[in-house]
Amino acid sequence: MARRKKVYEGKAKILYEGPEPGTLVQYFKDDATAFNAQKHDVIEGKGVLNNRLSEFFMTGLNDIGVPTHFIRRINMREQLIRQVEIIPLEVVVRNRAAGSMSKRLGIAEGHVLPRPVVEFYYKDDKLGDPLVTEEHIAAFGWASQQDMDDMVALALRVNDFLSGVFMGVGIRLVDFKIEIGRIWDNDFHRLIVADEISPDSCRLWDIKTGQKLDKDVFRQDLGNLADAYTELARRLGVLPKNAQPITRPTLIN
Ligand SMILES: Nc1ncnc2c1ncn2[C@@H]1O[C@H](COP(=O)(O)OP(=O)(O)O)[C@@H](O)[C@H]1O
Ligand SMILES: [Mg+2]
Repeated sequence: MARRKKVYEGKAKILYEGPEPGTLVQYFKDDATAFNAQKHDVIEGKGVLNNRLSEFFMTGLNDIGVPTHFIRRINMREQLIRQVEIIPLEVVVRNRAAGSMSKRLGIAEGHVLPRPVVEFYYKDDKLGDPLVTEEHIAAFGWASQQDMDDMVALALRVNDFLSGVFMGVGIRLVDFKIEIGRIWDNDFHRLIVADEISPDSCRLWDIKTGQKLDKDVFRQDLGNLADAYTELARRLGVLPKNAQPITRPTLIN
C-alpha cells in the first residue's frame, strides 16, 4: 500500500489524506470503546462490517437525495469520503427512550416517545460529550440557528430512511447518532451527513424477540459483538446469507 499521510486517528477510525483535494480515506479499525473509552476491546472483523454497513446506509441516503460524505468504498476497511468541516456536535434522534435518556429522565427503556426527539451533544471526550441546548450552541458559536434547523431536518430524514430500512428486516431503530459537516462553496456552505452510520452508533432491537443487534451487546456484555453485526449485515443483504462470521479462525484437521 502506498504511504499516505495520516490526518487523524480516533477511537474507531483513522483518516488519511485522499487522492484529490477535498477528499479523505476513512479506515475502519476493529477497536470497540464504550463509556467514553473506559471500556475498550478489539473485536476482530468489526471494522470490515462497519465499513460495509456505513457504505450501505450512506449509499441509500445519497440515492434518496440526503447528502452524505460517502463517495465509494475502496477495500474491506477503507472508503473514500468528502472532507467536511465537522460541526462539533453529535446529533441524536430517539424514537424510544433508552441509554442516557432513560437514566437522566427516569423513563423506562423502550418507552415509545410520542414523536422523534432530536438532541445535540457537544463532541468533547474530556467532558464526556455533554447534552447541550440550542442556546449553548448559538452562544458558543458552534452552529448558527439556520444550521441547527437544517441539522434537525437532516437528522429526521435520516431517521425516516433508517427506520424504514430496519423495519423491512424486522428490526426496530430505537435511536442513533450522526455527525454533520459543512461543505464550502465560495462563501456559502451546505450540510451533509459525515462520519459513519453503523451499529456502533445506533440502538437496534429485533422486533419479535427484543434481541439487541448494536454496540449495547459490547457495552452490557450481552454476547459476541461481531456475531450481532454479522447477523445485521446478513439481514440487510450486505453479506451473503451463508457467510460465516468472518471473525472465526478455521480449524484445519
Ligand atoms: N467527512 C469527514 N471529514 C472530516 N472529518 C470527518 C469526516 N467524517 C468523520 N470525520 C471525523 O473523523 C473522526 C473519525 O474517527 P473516530 O474514530 O470516530 O473518532 P473519535 O474518536 O473522535 O470519535 C471523527 O473525529 C469525525 O468527526
Ligand atoms: Mg467517532
